[in-house]
Amino acid sequence: MSSISGLVEDEISSFFESSPPLKNNEEIVVKLNQFIELNSSCEGGKRRIVCVTSGGTTVPLEQRCVRYIDNFSSGNRGAASTENFVKAGYAVIFLYRRGTCQPYCRYLPDDPFLECFEFPDAKNIQVHGSHSEAVKMAVMDQQAAVAEGRLLKLPFSTIYEYLQMLRLIATALKEVGPCSMFYLAAAVSDFYVPWKSMTEHKIESGSGPLDIRLAQVPKMLSILRSNWAPKAFCISFKLETDSKILIEKATKALQKYKVHAVVANELLTRKEEVVVVSSSGNVVVRRDSNKPESIVEDNLIRLIVDRHSTYIKESHT
Ligand code: PMT
Repeated sequence: MSSISGLVEDEISSFFESSPPLKNNEEIVVKLNQFIELNSSCEGGKRRIVCVTSGGTTVPLEQRCVRYIDNFSSGNRGAASTENFVKAGYAVIFLYRRGTCQPYCRYLPDDPFLECFEFPDAKNIQVHGSHSEAVKMAVMDQQAAVAEGRLLKLPFSTIYEYLQMLRLIATALKEVGPCSMFYLAAAVSDFYVPWKSMTEHKIESGSGPLDIRLAQVPKMLSILRSNWAPKAFCISFKLETDSKILIEKATKALQKYKVHAVVANELLTRKEEVVVVSSSGNVVVRRDSNKPESIVEDNLIRLIVDRHSTYIKESHT
């Protein structure tokens, strides 16, 4: 377990103290507790619970936000990983950016409502033949996962919402200990405008170029590991566009934040391969190119689940 310096702890506290409070805090806590309770008392024993984060956080530039800075992430990785975790028997808390890819929707067209349905007459709506299998599978799989209590979806938009929700989830999962996992695939802002120094109204565009000073968002991995959920299995991600520095950066993150593994990926090749960097060495995980339907997450989640099983066994000895 890592320990954090007083300085980092102060930066983290001041980030949360100055954040606008979550509007639906109570509702989220209730949902989380019910979900954890349900999955801790299943017939056949407790289920493992993973929090998958997905999509990019936004940084508002105005309190009544018109403009914002965004972090790139389509949400594909998080959504596909969620499906694989459910298949592997996990219950998943899917913390995702509103409007990004959702689990079980991979085979739907990008603009599903416009392309999937047709009106044979004014009173009826039906799924277009070419999409009927994809829609049927998406609806059935998603409904089954929710009905079995294996999928809880919680949306965020801003960095403020994301980090407050991550803290709520981590605190709620603390009791689950080694059977819980964090799989942090979201692209999280590194810079932000502190709420108190942010202008309330839309920034005027008539007064020339805009100067904004962005503060650094404290890295939350350290406090997640040391205080929020120290016994949870923790996987973080490292995204780079320059493959030459990717593994070095991932290795540094592994050592600095004492996570159990870092999934290193390069922007252009992220759908073909990733490297799982951990203290037991680096493993390249690829999509099975002989199977057109194969995705890198099939093999990645298999490896992560194996590592998690070993971690649980070792925690009990
Ligand atoms: O969504 P897709 O289009 O499918 O793409 C997937 C992906 C490329 C977004 C994903 O695989 C990925 O790499 N996600 C992490 C990208 C990222 O933000 O990396 P980073 O180097 O900025 O952050 C590294 C880690 O630190 C992350 O696990 C993040 O959760 C954590 N972090 C970041 C900022 C911060 N203030 N606190 C943090 O704890």
